[in-house]
Amino acid sequence: MSAADSILSVHDLMVRFPIAGPFGRRLGEIRALDGVSLHLSQGEILGLVGESGCGKSTLGKTLMGIQKPTSGSILLDGNEIAGQSPRAARALRRRLQYAYQDPGASLDPRWKIGKSLEEPLVIHTDLPRAERLRKVTEILVSVGLPAGHANLFPHEISGGQQRRVGLARILMLNPDIVILDEPTAGLDVSVQAAVLRLFRDLRETFDLSYIFISHDLSVVRLMCHRIAVMYLGRIVEIGSADDIMDAPKHPYTQSLLAALPKVNGPRVTENFWLEGEPPDAARLPPGCRFQGRCPHVQPICRAEDPAERKVGSQIVACHFAGSVTPPTKDRT
Ligand SMILES: Nc1ncnc2c1ncn2[C@@H]1O[C@H](COP(=O)(O)OP(=O)(O)OP(=O)(O)O)[C@@H](O)[C@H]1O
Ligand SMILES: [Mg+2]
Repeated sequence: MSAADSILSVHDLMVRFPIAGPFGRRLGEIRALDGVSLHLSQGEILGLVGESGCGKSTLGKTLMGIQKPTSGSILLDGNEIAGQSPRAARALRRRLQYAYQDPGASLDPRWKIGKSLEEPLVIHTDLPRAERLRKVTEILVSVGLPAGHANLFPHEISGGQQRRVGLARILMLNPDIVILDEPTAGLDVSVQAAVLRLFRDLRETFDLSYIFISHDLSVVRLMCHRIAVMYLGRIVEIGSADDIMDAPKHPYTQSLLAALPKVNGPRVTENFWLEGEPPDAARLPPGCRFQGRCPHVQPICRAEDPAERKVGSQIVACHFAGSVTPPTKDRT
């Protein structure tokens, strides 16, 4: 899949948050997104992984228009969103929906589920009430819930069912692209498996493409065609799920994978790498942002921020990608 047939493409996206001091003085800025570029093809599931605070949700919210970008471009089917009138941008963006990290938070606790599901249709369409109710029932059933759940309140259903309702709410507007932000966080393993199956089924039924944000690399491997690895506001490696998981090229990806248990074969020592916290996003060092935690660091890494380049089948931002491999130790 190439950038040419993408339904969504993002170029050099920046989001900076000012840090305000006393009396409104500006003390600095957080570079939550620092030059992110990616594309998504029709029907594709693109995984987005990285440690807490690296900018995954900010990217999702910026694509959705909830967060305003500082600069950069977002194209949907080749149409630049930034250049559109607010009305046209809204219409374009309806094709793209964001499923919040906390689904409970997106449902009004005082509203019955049916009302929460009907609301997007009231706001965005001219459908008569009977049609809206028909659609609520249809979508509830398609996410695997009984139609009668329309009459329940959010607190009367389980966490797994709340996820399904959150998804149903998004599907009401017939999106093409859904951004799933930590969609299985906080769910039991058995419920997780059912929700993941549902995502797969819905993708087929509704012809969806997903951006799948998760901390959980094993879930991402199971679900995604490609994986983008983020570190402090930047994508440091992107490639097919198999290549990223089997032959990671960036030392950060290698260290994330080292934390995953492996059933067979050599394994990276547990106490190796990824010690410490990532540096403060407000005070990035010059050069490579991973230098402080990288065991392969060289003088050039402290001086120059590495450009993205093709290494094997992946795009990697590391001066030494391709020539660094994690040390291994046979499992005892
Ligand atoms: N509205 C905001 N104002 C100021 N800073 C923000 C805002 N939203 C996010 N940030 C900062 O931007 C950075 C990226 O945050 P973001 O929520 O995108 O991370 P994340 O990768 O989704 O983390 P997590 O895995 O914990 O959900 C963090 O340093 C965060 O503190
Ligand atoms: Mg987040």
